[in-house]
Formats: sequence, structure tokens, C-alpha cells
Amino acid sequence: MSETKNISDLQKETYEIKKMYNDAEDFLPLLGTDYVELYVGNAKQSAHFYKTAFGFQSEAYAGLETGVSDKVSYVLRQDKIRLVLTTSLVEGGEINEHINKHGDGVKVVALWVEDATKAWEETTKRGAKSFFEPRKREDENGWVIESGIHTYGETVHVFVERKNYKGTFLPGYKKWESHYNPEPVGIKYIDHMVGNVGWGEMNKWCEFYAKIMGFAQIISFDDKDISTDYTALMSKVMSNGNGRIKFPINEPAAGKKKSQIEEYLDFYNGAGVQHIAVATDDIVTTIDAMRDRGVEFLYVPDTYYDDLIERVGEIDEDVEVLRKRGILVDRDDEGYLLQLFTKPVVDRPTMFFEIIQRKGAKSFGKGNFKALFEAIEREQEVRGTL
Ligand code: FE2
Repeated sequence: MSETKNISDLQKETYEIKKMYNDAEDFLPLLGTDYVELYVGNAKQSAHFYKTAFGFQSEAYAGLETGVSDKVSYVLRQDKIRLVLTTSLVEGGEINEHINKHGDGVKVVALWVEDATKAWEETTKRGAKSFFEPRKREDENGWVIESGIHTYGETVHVFVERKNYKGTFLPGYKKWESHYNPEPVGIKYIDHMVGNVGWGEMNKWCEFYAKIMGFAQIISFDDKDISTDYTALMSKVMSNGNGRIKFPINEPAAGKKKSQIEEYLDFYNGAGVQHIAVATDDIVTTIDAMRDRGVEFLYVPDTYYDDLIERVGEIDEDVEVLRKRGILVDRDDEGYLLQLFTKPVVDRPTMFFEIIQRKGAKSFGKGNFKALFEAIEREQEVRGTL
């Protein structure tokens, strides 16, 4: 009896020591992505789209009915993924300017932290530009501390400390009850979020994540890895200490014609979030559900599947099942992954989603880049932007 207790105490102690060590190493412990906020032209209709097409559930709402007079926000949730869709109710101002310049797009990548005051202090001390200082918001369900810093383009990170809050989403929001609740499609958490930055700016922003946020570079691709006859890009993947937050950063590279990154930068008018990769445990079911609900995906030519097994080795899935749905496969040292990309989900050829299922692999589908870019080029050709 006492021996069991001792072992458990010892384990607890070891855990505490490890935790202290990790905390000391990682000055910005991030618990995960808290939410992603998009500024959109019509939040009500966007919310309907993400519910219907992506299977998000209604979670919270703030607007005129909750005492907010200048903007409205719908909060949607699917498993651990929270999307906030915000639009302005008045003329002028920051939200309208953002929409005018960028179209619908990601404004906030919010990060869940233990201590939002410390997160702000540590990052601004290291050179981050403040978006807003730590502030407390409270209601009858408790309180949260939020703070914010700027990152690439007009995108910002908001640190959210919510351990003392029991209510729906954040103070000021009310629960959003809806009679329309389409089934989830099985997406569970954000695997990674990719930023497109301008010519020659990739290293600057990788350094930002390394120096200011304590991230480490885990992968790098240059234009030799990622190029087709026409288009090229360079990419580095930055990850935080516990690996829960992964931000690949892309910049265009010179090719014969305009790269998809340049096309993004032109239409978004600068740097911004290119894609949000969401993880599923069953990509076939997820893709089938999303396609049934009208989501459009990028397709590679059928020939991609002819030598698939020679390229990636044995996989659990039936190649015909993947071929029929256009699902891509790539392998690294640790396993393989399945992935598929949507077409842009907004009017401009800017933001899209990736659906990813990892079976051991920790990489990002490098082996698929060429086939994928050729698929994107076919779309660019139709848009007249190649
Ligand atoms: Fe990705």
C-alpha cells in the first residue's frame, strides 16, 4: 500500500521536475490553438456555410442582442477547433478596412496559454509589437485575461488565459442555440496553419517565431524541393516546444510564371494565413461528407495513383478508395499521411483548408507538392492569373 503511494509520489515528483525544466526552457508554453477569427463580409452567412459544409456546431454569439453595437461575431466549434466569424455593423473602422483590403480572411490566430500577462511580457520584451496589453474581461461565469501581438501582414496572435472562466467561449458572449445543427464531419483539431509572406521575408518571420516565441525550425524546403515548370516556393516549418502549434511559413520563389504564393499575395494584398490544416481520424468519411455538402477539392490527375504503392509503400487503405476521392498520400521516416486540399473557400483565390490524417508521419506531404501545384496551376490558368 505504502509502496504504491511512494511510487506514485515519485512519478508525480519526476513529472513536476520535468515540467519545471520544460517551463524554464519554453518561456512561452502554449497549450494549443484557442480559436481562429476571420473577418468576413457577412458573418451570418459565413457561419451557415461552415456549419453546413464543414459540420461546425453553433457555440456562441455576440452582437446587438448582447450589447455589442459595432460588430457581430458567431463562434463555431467542431471538437477542439473553434472558428470565430466577425463582421462590422458600422461604416469604416478596422474590420471594414481589413475586409476591403484582404477580402474574407484570418485576422486572429489565438493561442491558449496559462498566463496571458507573462506571454505578452515575454514576447514584447523580445521585440514583438503589441496588439493590445493584457486585459481582463469578466462576467458572472468568471474571468479571462487576453493580450495580443502582431505577426506577419495584418495578422495577430491573441493569448487567451481561460483557467478561471466557466462560461461559453468568452465573457460577453451568449450561448448560440440553433435549430439547425448539421452532423460534424469528423475534423478534430488544427494540425498546422500556414502563413504566406512576401519575397525574401520567410527567414525574417521564421526568426520572429524562433526569437520572439521560442519556436524551433523542424523542416525546410527550398525551391528545388517545391517547383514545377512554372511555379516555385520556399517553406520552413516552425514549431513550439510541445509541438502543439506548427506554423509553416512560405515565400514565393522565382519560376517561369506566377507562383500560387504570389497570386495569394496579390489578391490578399500582403502576407496572411494561406491554409488551415484540420486533422481527422478517418479521411475517407470526412471527405465524403464534405463533398456531399458542396465543398470543392483540388484533384490530381488519375495517373498519380498508378505508381502510388511503389512511391509510398504499403498502406492500410485501398488505393481505389483513395483514387476515387483524389486523396493524396506521402510517407516519411515515421509513417505516412493522407491529405486533401479544398479550393479557396472565399471569393479571392486566397484561403483554403487542408484535411489531413496522420498515420505516424510528422511531415507535411512534400512528396505531393509537385502533383498538387500542377493541380493549382490548372486552376490558376482558368482564373487567368498564371
Ligand atoms: Fe499544409
